[in-house]
Amino acid sequence: MANLKVTLGDLSLKNPIMLASGILDSTPGILKRMAQTDAGALITKSISLKGRPGYPGPTAVEISPGTWINAMGLPNPGLQDFLEEFPLTTLKLPVIPNLVGDTPKDFETLAREVAMAGAKIVELNLSCPHPKANYSGNLTSQDPKAAADVIEATSKHLPVIAKLTPNVTDIGNVAVACAKAGATAISAINTLPALDVDPELERPILGNGFGGLSGAAIRPIGLRKVLEISKALNNEGISIPVIGMGGISDADDVVRYLLCGASMVQVGTCLTSNPEKLATICSGLCDWMNRKGYKKLSDFQGRILDWFE
Ligand code: DHB
Repeated sequence: MANLKVTLGDLSLKNPIMLASGILDSTPGILKRMAQTDAGALITKSISLKGRPGYPGPTAVEISPGTWINAMGLPNPGLQDFLEEFPLTTLKLPVIPNLVGDTPKDFETLAREVAMAGAKIVELNLSCPHPKANYSGNLTSQDPKAAADVIEATSKHLPVIAKLTPNVTDIGNVAVACAKAGATAISAINTLPALDVDPELERPILGNGFGGLSGAAIRPIGLRKVLEISKALNNEGISIPVIGMGGISDADDVVRYLLCGASMVQVGTCLTSNPEKLATICSGLCDWMNRKGYKKLSDFQGRILDWFE
Protein backbone atom coordinates (compact mmCIF):
# COMPACT_ATOMS: atom_id res chain seq x y z
CA MET A 1 0.00 0.00 0.00
CA ALA A 2 1.41 3.39 -1.03
CA ASN A 3 2.44 5.76 1.76
CA LEU A 4 1.20 9.27 0.93
CA LYS A 5 2.21 11.04 4.16
CA VAL A 6 4.11 14.34 3.85
CA THR A 7 5.54 16.90 6.25
CA LEU A 8 4.91 20.63 5.91
CA GLY A 9 6.65 22.67 8.62
CA ASP A 10 5.48 21.15 11.90
CA LEU A 11 2.44 19.56 10.28
CA SER A 12 2.12 15.98 9.23
CA LEU A 13 -0.38 15.62 6.36
CA LYS A 14 -2.02 12.29 5.51
CA ASN A 15 -1.55 13.00 1.81
CA PRO A 16 0.08 15.67 -0.41
CA ILE A 17 -3.16 17.04 -1.88
CA MET A 18 -4.54 20.28 -0.43
CA LEU A 19 -7.49 22.48 -1.18
CA ALA A 20 -6.09 25.66 -2.80
CA SER A 21 -6.97 29.11 -1.58
CA GLY A 22 -9.80 30.24 -3.82
CA ILE A 23 -13.54 29.94 -4.06
CA LEU A 24 -14.29 26.84 -1.98
CA ASP A 25 -12.75 28.11 1.23
CA SER A 26 -14.23 31.55 1.67
CA THR A 27 -16.84 30.71 4.33
CA PRO A 28 -16.70 28.55 7.47
CA GLY A 29 -19.54 26.42 6.05
CA ILE A 30 -17.70 25.57 2.84
CA LEU A 31 -14.51 24.80 4.77
CA LYS A 32 -16.42 22.39 7.02
CA ARG A 33 -17.84 20.70 3.95
CA MET A 34 -14.39 20.43 2.34
CA ALA A 35 -13.09 18.88 5.58
CA GLN A 36 -15.25 15.85 4.73
CA THR A 37 -13.16 15.23 1.61
CA ASP A 38 -9.84 13.39 1.70
CA ALA A 39 -7.66 16.49 1.49
CA GLY A 40 -4.35 16.55 3.39
CA ALA A 41 -5.03 20.19 4.40
CA LEU A 42 -7.34 23.08 3.59
CA ILE A 43 -6.07 26.55 2.71
CA THR A 44 -8.44 29.43 3.39
CA LYS A 45 -9.34 32.29 1.07
CA SER A 46 -6.97 35.21 1.69
CA ILE A 47 -7.46 37.06 4.99
CA SER A 48 -6.68 40.78 5.29
CA LEU A 49 -6.51 43.00 8.36
CA LYS A 50 -9.75 44.81 7.48
CA GLY A 51 -12.78 43.12 5.96
CA ARG A 52 -13.28 43.48 2.22
CA PRO A 53 -16.68 43.27 0.50
CA GLY A 54 -15.23 41.99 -2.78
CA TYR A 55 -15.77 43.25 -6.32
CA PRO A 56 -19.07 43.57 -8.18
CA GLY A 57 -20.00 40.57 -10.33
CA PRO A 58 -19.44 38.74 -12.41
CA THR A 59 -16.52 37.63 -10.21
CA ALA A 60 -15.76 34.22 -11.76
CA VAL A 61 -16.51 33.02 -15.30
CA GLU A 62 -15.68 29.76 -17.08
CA ILE A 63 -14.31 31.03 -20.41
CA SER A 64 -13.61 27.64 -21.99
CA PRO A 65 -14.20 24.16 -20.56
CA GLY A 66 -12.25 23.85 -17.30
CA THR A 67 -10.59 27.28 -17.64
CA TRP A 68 -11.77 30.20 -15.52
CA ILE A 69 -11.06 33.89 -15.10
CA ASN A 70 -11.83 35.44 -11.71
CA ALA A 71 -11.52 38.63 -9.74
CA MET A 72 -13.32 38.22 -6.46
CA GLY A 73 -11.64 41.23 -4.85
CA LEU A 74 -10.21 39.22 -1.94
CA PRO A 75 -13.57 39.18 -0.12
CA ASN A 76 -13.18 38.25 3.53
CA PRO A 77 -14.53 39.31 6.93
CA GLY A 78 -11.20 40.74 8.14
CA LEU A 79 -8.80 39.24 10.66
CA GLN A 80 -10.82 39.59 13.88
CA ASP A 81 -14.09 38.22 12.47
CA PHE A 82 -12.15 35.52 10.67
CA LEU A 83 -10.61 34.34 13.94
CA GLU A 84 -14.05 34.25 15.59
CA GLU A 85 -15.87 32.54 12.73
CA PHE A 86 -13.41 30.13 11.13
CA PRO A 87 -12.54 26.71 12.50
CA LEU A 88 -8.74 26.94 12.62
CA THR A 89 -8.14 24.17 15.12
CA THR A 90 -11.40 22.25 15.40
CA LEU A 91 -11.49 20.35 12.11
CA LYS A 92 -9.99 16.89 11.80
CA LEU A 93 -7.48 18.11 9.23
CA PRO A 94 -5.12 21.10 9.24
CA VAL A 95 -6.53 24.47 8.15
CA ILE A 96 -3.84 26.79 6.78
CA PRO A 97 -4.75 30.49 6.67
CA ASN A 98 -3.78 32.36 3.51
CA LEU A 99 -2.84 35.96 4.32
CA VAL A 100 -2.83 39.10 2.20
CA GLY A 101 -1.59 42.56 3.13
CA ASP A 102 -0.39 45.77 1.55
CA THR A 103 2.89 46.03 3.46
CA PRO A 104 5.30 43.72 5.32
CA LYS A 105 3.88 45.20 8.53
CA ASP A 106 0.31 44.16 7.59
CA PHE A 107 1.55 40.66 6.85
CA GLU A 108 3.43 40.56 10.14
CA THR A 109 0.36 41.52 12.20
CA LEU A 110 -1.72 38.90 10.40
CA ALA A 111 0.92 36.21 10.95
CA ARG A 112 1.33 37.02 14.63
CA GLU A 113 -2.41 36.94 15.30
CA VAL A 114 -3.15 33.69 13.45
CA ALA A 115 -0.16 32.07 15.16
CA MET A 116 -1.62 33.06 18.53
CA ALA A 117 -4.96 31.61 17.40
CA GLY A 118 -3.36 28.23 16.75
CA ALA A 119 -2.27 28.27 13.10
CA LYS A 120 0.82 26.09 12.58
CA ILE A 121 1.79 27.51 9.19
CA VAL A 122 0.44 30.19 6.85
CA GLU A 123 0.46 30.76 3.13
CA LEU A 124 1.31 34.32 2.03
CA ASN A 125 -0.52 35.63 -1.01
CA LEU A 126 2.34 37.53 -2.63
CA SER A 127 0.70 37.27 -6.01
CA CYS A 128 -2.94 38.41 -6.25
CA PRO A 129 -3.18 39.22 -9.98
CA HIS A 130 -5.03 42.54 -9.67
CA PRO A 131 -3.74 44.52 -6.70
CA LYS A 132 -5.09 47.99 -6.00
CA ALA A 133 -3.09 49.00 -2.95
CA ASN A 134 0.50 50.00 -2.28
CA TYR A 135 1.93 47.71 -4.90
CA SER A 136 1.83 50.39 -7.63
CA GLY A 137 0.78 47.79 -10.16
CA ASN A 138 3.49 45.28 -9.31
CA LEU A 139 2.77 42.04 -7.48
CA THR A 140 4.92 41.53 -4.38
CA SER A 141 6.45 38.35 -5.76
CA GLN A 142 7.52 40.12 -8.96
CA ASP A 143 10.23 41.73 -6.83
CA PRO A 144 12.49 39.25 -4.98
CA LYS A 145 13.44 41.89 -2.39
CA ALA A 146 9.81 42.87 -1.70
CA ALA A 147 8.87 39.20 -1.32
CA ALA A 148 11.84 38.56 0.97
CA ASP A 149 10.86 41.52 3.18
CA VAL A 150 7.42 39.98 3.75
CA ILE A 151 8.94 36.58 4.53
CA GLU A 152 11.37 38.09 7.02
CA ALA A 153 8.59 40.00 8.77
CA THR A 154 6.31 36.96 9.10
CA SER A 155 8.55 33.92 9.51
CA LYS A 156 9.64 34.98 13.00
CA HIS A 157 6.08 34.23 14.16
CA LEU A 158 5.44 30.89 12.43
CA PRO A 159 6.49 28.88 9.37
CA VAL A 160 5.41 30.48 6.07
CA ILE A 161 4.64 29.30 2.56
CA ALA A 162 5.38 31.91 -0.14
CA LYS A 163 2.79 31.79 -2.94
CA LEU A 164 4.33 33.12 -6.15
CA THR A 165 3.07 34.59 -9.40
CA PRO A 166 4.14 32.92 -12.65
CA ASN A 167 4.37 36.34 -14.28
CA VAL A 168 8.12 36.86 -13.92
CA THR A 169 11.14 36.18 -16.08
CA ASP A 170 12.94 34.09 -13.47
CA ILE A 171 10.67 32.48 -10.89
CA GLY A 172 13.59 30.41 -9.56
CA ASN A 173 15.32 33.60 -8.49
CA VAL A 174 12.23 34.74 -6.55
CA ALA A 175 11.87 31.33 -4.90
CA VAL A 176 15.52 31.33 -3.82
CA ALA A 177 15.14 34.85 -2.36
CA CYS A 178 12.07 33.69 -0.39
CA ALA A 179 13.85 30.57 0.84
CA LYS A 180 16.90 32.55 1.95
CA ALA A 181 14.60 34.96 3.79
CA GLY A 182 13.18 32.04 5.78
CA ALA A 183 10.27 30.55 3.81
CA THR A 184 9.41 27.00 4.88
CA ALA A 185 7.89 26.18 1.48
CA ILE A 186 7.14 27.73 -1.90
CA SER A 187 3.75 27.39 -3.57
CA ALA A 188 3.22 28.13 -7.25
CA ILE A 189 1.55 29.12 -9.38
CA ASN A 190 -1.04 31.72 -8.49
CA THR A 191 -3.41 32.68 -11.31
CA LEU A 192 -2.08 34.47 -14.38
CA PRO A 193 -3.00 38.13 -14.74
CA ALA A 194 -5.57 38.14 -17.57
CA LEU A 195 -8.43 39.88 -19.35
CA ASP A 196 -11.37 38.49 -21.27
CA VAL A 197 -13.93 40.43 -23.23
CA ASP A 198 -17.63 39.98 -24.00
CA PRO A 199 -17.99 40.93 -27.69
CA GLU A 200 -21.77 41.34 -27.50
CA LEU A 201 -21.72 43.64 -24.49
CA GLU A 202 -18.46 45.24 -25.65
CA ARG A 203 -17.03 45.18 -22.15
CA PRO A 204 -14.71 43.08 -19.98
CA ILE A 205 -16.28 39.83 -18.86
CA LEU A 206 -15.52 40.46 -15.18
CA GLY A 207 -17.00 43.18 -13.02
CA ASN A 208 -13.45 44.23 -12.10
CA GLY A 209 -12.17 44.21 -15.67
CA PHE A 210 -8.88 42.40 -15.03
CA GLY A 211 -8.71 39.02 -13.31
CA GLY A 212 -6.67 35.87 -12.81
CA LEU A 213 -6.67 32.90 -15.19
CA SER A 214 -6.89 29.44 -13.62
CA GLY A 215 -7.78 25.88 -14.55
CA ALA A 216 -6.90 23.50 -17.38
CA ALA A 217 -5.24 26.07 -19.69
CA ILE A 218 -2.56 27.04 -17.17
CA ARG A 219 -1.34 23.56 -16.21
CA PRO A 220 1.64 23.46 -18.61
CA ILE A 221 2.71 26.88 -17.33
CA GLY A 222 2.45 25.69 -13.73
CA LEU A 223 4.51 22.59 -14.50
CA ARG A 224 7.29 24.58 -16.10
CA LYS A 225 7.39 27.10 -13.25
CA VAL A 226 7.47 24.34 -10.61
CA LEU A 227 10.31 22.68 -12.47
CA GLU A 228 12.21 25.99 -12.67
CA ILE A 229 11.70 26.58 -8.93
CA SER A 230 12.81 23.05 -8.05
CA LYS A 231 15.95 23.37 -10.17
CA ALA A 232 16.85 26.80 -8.77
CA LEU A 233 16.46 25.59 -5.17
CA ASN A 234 18.48 22.43 -5.90
CA ASN A 235 21.24 24.50 -7.50
CA GLU A 236 21.51 26.53 -4.30
CA GLY A 237 21.49 23.39 -2.16
CA ILE A 238 18.18 24.46 -0.60
CA SER A 239 15.83 21.66 0.31
CA ILE A 240 12.34 22.98 1.05
CA PRO A 241 9.06 21.64 -0.30
CA VAL A 242 7.59 23.09 -3.48
CA ILE A 243 3.80 22.99 -3.57
CA GLY A 244 2.60 22.80 -7.16
CA MET A 245 -0.70 24.05 -8.48
CA GLY A 246 -2.42 25.27 -11.59
CA GLY A 247 -4.93 23.29 -13.63
CA ILE A 248 -4.90 20.04 -11.65
CA SER A 249 -8.08 18.13 -12.39
CA ASP A 250 -7.19 14.47 -11.84
CA ALA A 251 -4.57 12.14 -10.34
CA ASP A 252 -2.47 12.20 -13.53
CA ASP A 253 -2.09 15.96 -13.12
CA VAL A 254 -0.91 15.46 -9.53
CA VAL A 255 1.67 12.98 -10.78
CA ARG A 256 2.79 15.50 -13.43
CA TYR A 257 3.52 18.11 -10.75
CA LEU A 258 5.29 15.62 -8.47
CA LEU A 259 7.47 14.47 -11.39
CA CYS A 260 8.44 18.13 -11.95
CA GLY A 261 9.75 18.41 -8.39
CA ALA A 262 6.71 19.33 -6.31
CA SER A 263 6.38 17.55 -2.95
CA MET A 264 2.74 18.48 -2.58
CA VAL A 265 -0.02 20.03 -4.67
CA GLN A 266 -3.07 22.21 -4.34
CA VAL A 267 -6.32 21.79 -6.23
CA GLY A 268 -8.88 24.54 -6.73
CA THR A 269 -10.64 25.40 -9.96
CA CYS A 270 -11.71 21.87 -10.96
CA LEU A 271 -13.59 21.50 -7.67
CA THR A 272 -15.88 24.43 -8.52
CA SER A 273 -18.21 22.10 -10.40
CA ASN A 274 -17.70 19.10 -8.11
CA PRO A 275 -16.07 19.43 -4.64
CA GLU A 276 -16.19 15.66 -4.15
CA LYS A 277 -13.62 15.29 -6.91
CA LEU A 278 -10.88 15.83 -4.33
CA ALA A 279 -11.49 12.34 -2.91
CA THR A 280 -11.25 10.78 -6.39
CA ILE A 281 -7.97 12.60 -7.02
CA CYS A 282 -6.48 11.27 -3.74
CA SER A 283 -7.56 7.68 -4.37
CA GLY A 284 -6.39 7.98 -8.00
CA LEU A 285 -2.87 8.91 -6.85
CA CYS A 286 -2.82 5.86 -4.60
CA ASP A 287 -4.00 3.62 -7.45
CA TRP A 288 -1.35 5.03 -9.81
CA MET A 289 1.43 4.43 -7.26
CA ASN A 290 0.22 0.91 -6.55
CA ARG A 291 0.06 0.11 -10.28
CA LYS A 292 3.61 1.46 -10.75
CA GLY A 293 4.91 -0.36 -7.68
CA TYR A 294 5.89 2.84 -5.87
CA LYS A 295 5.78 2.69 -2.07
CA LYS A 296 6.42 6.36 -1.32
CA LEU A 297 6.27 9.70 -3.11
CA SER A 298 10.06 10.10 -3.19
CA ASP A 299 10.25 6.99 -5.40
CA PHE A 300 9.29 9.15 -8.41
CA GLN A 301 9.20 12.75 -7.23
CA GLY A 302 11.37 15.14 -9.33
CA ARG A 303 12.15 12.54 -11.99
CA ILE A 304 11.57 14.96 -14.88
CA LEU A 305 14.32 17.27 -13.60
CA ASP A 306 16.98 14.98 -15.06
CA TRP A 307 15.66 15.78 -18.55
CA PHE A 308 16.75 19.38 -18.19
CA GLU A 309 20.30 18.97 -16.87
C1 DHB B 1 -8.25 36.81 -6.33
C2 DHB B 1 -7.11 36.59 -5.59
C3 DHB B 1 -6.09 35.82 -6.10
O1 DHB B 1 -4.93 35.58 -5.42
C4 DHB B 1 -6.23 35.26 -7.35
O2 DHB B 1 -5.22 34.51 -7.82
C5 DHB B 1 -7.35 35.48 -8.10
C6 DHB B 1 -8.37 36.27 -7.58
C7 DHB B 1 -9.36 37.65 -5.79
O3 DHB B 1 -9.80 37.47 -4.66
O4 DHB B 1 -9.84 38.51 -6.53
